[in-house]
Amino acid sequence: MSHAAAPGKVILFGEHAVVFGEPAIAVGIDLETRVDVIPDERLKAHTVNGRSISTYAHLFIEKAVSLLWENAGNTTPLAIRTSSRLPSAAGLGSSAALSTATCAALLHLTNQFSEVRLARAAYETEWLGQEGRGSPIDTSTSAHGQALFISREKQEGHLWTLKRGERVWNIHHQEMPRLTMVVAHSGQKGKTADAVAKVQMYVDRTDFAETIIQDLGKLTLDGRDALLKGDMHRTGELMNEAHELLGMLGVSTSRLDELCRVARDHAYGAKLTGGGAGGCIIALSDEPEKLKEALQAERAEAWIVHSARKGARAWGRTVGRPSRRPRREPPEDGAGEEE
Ligand code: MEV
Repeated sequence: MSHAAAPGKVILFGEHAVVFGEPAIAVGIDLETRVDVIPDERLKAHTVNGRSISTYAHLFIEKAVSLLWENAGNTTPLAIRTSSRLPSAAGLGSSAALSTATCAALLHLTNQFSEVRLARAAYETEWLGQEGRGSPIDTSTSAHGQALFISREKQEGHLWTLKRGERVWNIHHQEMPRLTMVVAHSGQKGKTADAVAKVQMYVDRTDFAETIIQDLGKLTLDGRDALLKGDMHRTGELMNEAHELLGMLGVSTSRLDELCRVARDHAYGAKLTGGGAGGCIIALSDEPEKLKEALQAERAEAWIVHSARKGARAWGRTVGRPSRRPRREPPEDGAGEEE
């Protein structure tokens, strides 16, 4: 049996803009998804939590199994178990954590685990499952944990490069003080793929939306400077500005705006995080307990979260022979298959 765990994430700056190649900063959080995989010859087909695998209920798992197990010529059915502390459709990267944990367990099972291979396979899985929308920010953060800086250009701390058509994302490790954040759920489900498609349409049709995307990119760079200086007041102000811009892009809701207003009484700043159109806000505060209570008084489910020290991990039994020579990494554009 092979096991894996992968963290969810929050985006501090740059959601939506990152899809268009603008810079972004994301942090892994200490809420995780766990996946166990057992090859079992007695099964007729793969199962997930005791039920037959189905595209409708287990889209990302099905894509990962096809990419990393079936495409490699394995025919033994797999019994897969999943459990998660991440709420779904909340902007906290639950589908990325599931894809990443599943890929990590399968890469470990077949003796191919490496962080970069995992980041590529998990992005490929999400890409196939979401019909091609979005950037690798969620899956790369889940693979690496800690904090990531994503930009078009390669910089210090470079981890890997991912490409889709014309778009290039260079993923970097970002040094950052360990953050304590409060996350509150609007109670509305936010479908990232729909929000991304809506913003794409807006950008295709108006110059105004393109300007907002560029402004979000500039805010990310200012936010990174403020975080590195430990200037929480400035970081908070920039988060507030980012929320306003995301509102102009049409991905906030009145409930998210209201929760941000409430949070700001006890926080340096607050903004929606992830795809928006529902889902969660994040706030940075020195008084996380007070802030959590204030948000709960608004009938919001709220959590105190910390940045994750580690990204995805995998352990347990393997079925593949360990390769003696290091295998060549999968190509940057498209993942899972060796060049
Ligand atoms: C979702 O967590 C972040 C978005 O920028 C989409 C993406 O980058 O894939 C909204």
